[in-house]
Order: sequence, then structure tokens, then C-alpha cells
Amino acid sequence: DRSIKIAPSILAADFAAFGAECSAVEDQGADWIHVDVMDGHFVPNITFGPAMCAALRPHIRGVMDVHLMIAPVDPYIDAFAKAGADFITAHVEAGPHIHRTLQAIRAAGARPGVALNPGTPVETVAHLLDLVDLVCVMTVNPGFGGQSFIHSQLDKIAALREMIGDREIHIEIDGGVDPMTAPMVARAGADALVAGSAVFKGGSVSNPGVYGENIAAI
Ligand code: DX5
Ligand code: ZN
Repeated sequence: DRSIKIAPSILAADFAAFGAECSAVEDQGADWIHVDVMDGHFVPNITFGPAMCAALRPHIRGVMDVHLMIAPVDPYIDAFAKAGADFITAHVEAGPHIHRTLQAIRAAGARPGVALNPGTPVETVAHLLDLVDLVCVMTVNPGFGGQSFIHSQLDKIAALREMIGDREIHIEIDGGVDPMTAPMVARAGADALVAGSAVFKGGSVSNPGVYGENIAAI
């Protein structure tokens, strides 16, 4: 179902070839490029920051979807917006003032998203829905690619679909999305699927057709 956006996570790409990897997956049918920013504090892994996003921007024709797994968030919002992020998603668990953070993302000129860890109840976003263009339901504990999908999150996705009603807010799923789990989350109401390993496995910038096959299989 191609009304569902596929957002390859470059966490699973070749770190020495990010620009070419972004072009390759876009050529092969990716809708958005998902950029996982980790600080070694909010999550137990470190990736890259706003300078990397700025460097990638000219290599991404479409949407740059930046997922911030950092705390605090607020001091870095302007830098990610200036780097050309389309969506900037912050975690509801990242600090005491997520409402202010989401307002600041909008004020900086980006589209605000809010993400929930698997242990966080869906009710935590009920009073944020007027501020966001995207809610990201984590279906693994954030920090690493290649983990298995947590099935208990399917109920959360369905509940979120109800809560959102006819507002124009994307429900994005992040973690363990593959050809087995994608139909389940789509049925529950998701319309944007992040996929790292399921997109990049077996392919490379010199063999990008595999990315196309992997995307088509999701
Ligand atoms: C996890 C990241 C995800 C991750 C998904 O902390 O937010 O975006 O890269 O990777 P897969 O699809 O391999 O679970
Ligand atoms: Zn992510």
C-alpha cells in the first residue's frame, strides 16, 4: 500500500557513504530518510548531530525525518532546523517540558513530532496532539537497529489512531519493521514505517537494486 510512507533509517547504512546511501534508497523508492540522532545519555549509543544533517541535506531530495534520541532537546532545536530537517521528533520522556519543546520546533520552522518509548502510555501524548504533525511509536527500545519488534505496541497504535481522529497527524512506527510486522502496524493504523535493517540488508551503493526489492517487500 503506497499511501504508506517508507522511511529507511540510515543507522543501518554504510556510515562512510551516507550521502550516496540516501540517494540510493530514494532512487529505489524510499519516501523519507530517517536520521537517528543519539547522544549516549538518553540512549546508550552515539551517532551524529546537526552537522551531519546539514551535510546530508543536499543528498536528500525529499523529506529528512530527524529522530532525536537526546536529552536535553531544546538547546539543539535551532541547529537541526537550520540543518534542513523537515520533521524534528523529540521523545516525550526526554524532559519535563515536551509541550514547550514542540512549540519551539514549530517556531524554528520545522514540523514537530513526538516519540514514545515502548513503556510509555499513549495517554502521555493526548494533550500534545494539537502541536504535532507526527507521533512516532517506538516498537523497540531506542538505541540500536536490528532489534525485534515488540508486539504489545500494536494496541498502542490502534489507541493512538482513535485519539487522532481526523487530525492530519502521521503515525510513524520505528523499530523491527519488516515484511512480517509491516502489515500488522498498517492494519493498526500506522502510515509511516521506519525500517533500517529490513531496507539495507544485502544491498550497497554499488548494488542498490537490493534496496528496491527490500522496500517493495515491506
Ligand atoms: C532505534 C532507531 C531506529 C532503528 C530502526 O533506536 O530509532 O530508527 O534504526 O532499525 P531497525 O529497522 O533495524 O529496527
Ligand atoms: Zn529512529
